[in-house]
Amino acid sequence: MITQEARVISIVGLGGSLGRISRSRSALQLALEGAAGAGAETLLLDLRELELPMFNPDHELPAGSAKQLVESCYGADGMLWSSPLYQGTISGSFKNALDWLHVLGRREPSFLHDKVIGLISAAGGVQGLQAINTLEFSVRALRAWAVPYVVPIAGALGAFDSEGRVRDASVRTQLETLGAEVVRVAERFATHDQIHRQGECDEAAERIAAGA
Ligand SMILES: Cc1cc2nc3c(=O)[nH]c(=O)nc-3n(C[C@H](O)[C@H](O)[C@H](O)COP(=O)(O)O)c2cc1C
Repeated sequence: MITQEARVISIVGLGGSLGRISRSRSALQLALEGAAGAGAETLLLDLRELELPMFNPDHELPAGSAKQLVESCYGADGMLWSSPLYQGTISGSFKNALDWLHVLGRREPSFLHDKVIGLISAAGGVQGLQAINTLEFSVRALRAWAVPYVVPIAGALGAFDSEGRVRDASVRTQLETLGAEVVRVAERFATHDQIHRQGECDEAAERIAAGA
């Protein structure tokens, strides 16, 4: 049953490589455009800009960019993740960002509980689905939900030009479709009367602020 009032859905995009030109970052930007076109407010967490320190379980209180990452992800209704395919899997920098989200295990609700995630990869060859599958393991570990539609971009050097602009119109369409799909499903979660994640998040934030 849908009882809660519709509100603006927030979608956070996480990814890109550390390179100046990054096809996975360009892809992420296009998917975020699709999300914005579907009415969401969007934020790009560009891993090149964030310059995250390596996660170390001995020093897990996030500060600076790591804190920005953790809080932005926790506050979002949905996310778009975009990793390059490196050595048949996701990049180390993307995995490091996911490792930082471990600190959300202490929150209530924990991790990325009930967030909706869309998955993208950019590969030089044709095995981009390997990165998508790896990402999906992490979606589950972090208590989130992946939409079934995914965008594994094959032949990324051809799909985007040397400045990272998309050349393949069908790739643009797929990415915009994914962004809109994440918004559509995140709206369902946000407005369903039995899923009060946002309310729980607000209550948890109040408890933390009160030192409880
Ligand atoms: C370290 C490294 C490892 C890579 N490994 C693979 C791979 O296993 N399979 C593949 O198809 N492409 C591989 N590539 C190509 C990248 O997937 C491709 O260039 C992609 O566009 C990189 O993402 P980016 O444009 O966001 O930097 C690799 C590239 C690098 C730099």
